[in-house]
Amino acid sequence: MRKPFVAGNWKMHGSKASIKELIAGLNAKVEQVSGVDVTVCPPAIYIDYVSQLLNPSIKVGAQNVAQEPVQGAFTGEHSVEMLKDLGCQYVIIGHSERRAIFGESNALVAVKVKVALQAGVTPILCVGETLQERQSGVMQSIISGQLDAVLDLVGIESFEKIVIAYEPVWAIGTGVTASPEQAQEVHAFIRGKLASLSSEVAQKVIIQYGGSVKPDNAVELFGQADIDGGLIGGASLNADDFMAICKAAGA
Ligand code: PGA
Repeated sequence: MRKPFVAGNWKMHGSKASIKELIAGLNAKVEQVSGVDVTVCPPAIYIDYVSQLLNPSIKVGAQNVAQEPVQGAFTGEHSVEMLKDLGCQYVIIGHSERRAIFGESNALVAVKVKVALQAGVTPILCVGETLQERQSGVMQSIISGQLDAVLDLVGIESFEKIVIAYEPVWAIGTGVTASPEQAQEVHAFIRGKLASLSSEVAQKVIIQYGGSVKPDNAVELFGQADIDGGLIGGASLNADDFMAICKAAGA
């Protein structure tokens, strides 16, 4: 049985004041949530602050990591060892915004996944197609390519320690959610692809759905056989909404 996992991706949002308020809201409600692992991923600059305030039953993650594991002359980057030093247990890798805006390739994403794994930090590997790719019928090959780059570098066995987040790019921040059936179809495709290499690993791997998840669509999405929780953007900035989504994923 896979334990559902919900992660909040705060993206580049927040201030010390707003984060303090958000965390007070999360801490007040966390006791009501069970049967689900919960993580928040603040901007790196606030990770330490968040760790100090947050109820420890909610874990902390990062939104990006350098490809260089320890330290070096990489102005503006933060290494996985630094993230670990601040108590991060997860790191989002290959988010579509990183791929599209910052030019991260499948190959670079794979290196970052390897770096995280080697440090014992769980990668949340994001994959997903654009609307144009979906409409032109190349969705599966795009997602396959995103997975293959990582599979080739770290191997199928490592996927026991990787969380996958399927995030259709057209559903991110748009208010347009994939229907539960559309999402399930892709989740089943991803799990099936992994199963062709190892059915054991495929059964264990957590596959989150991300893209305009809200309290009112979460139950139906998380009710799908291959959807094991979510990666939540906008709604994770509101404590009530985020906790309602966590509840929907949990027992
Ligand atoms: P959204 O973002 O929930 O605001 O659509 C999801 C994500 O980008 O991870």
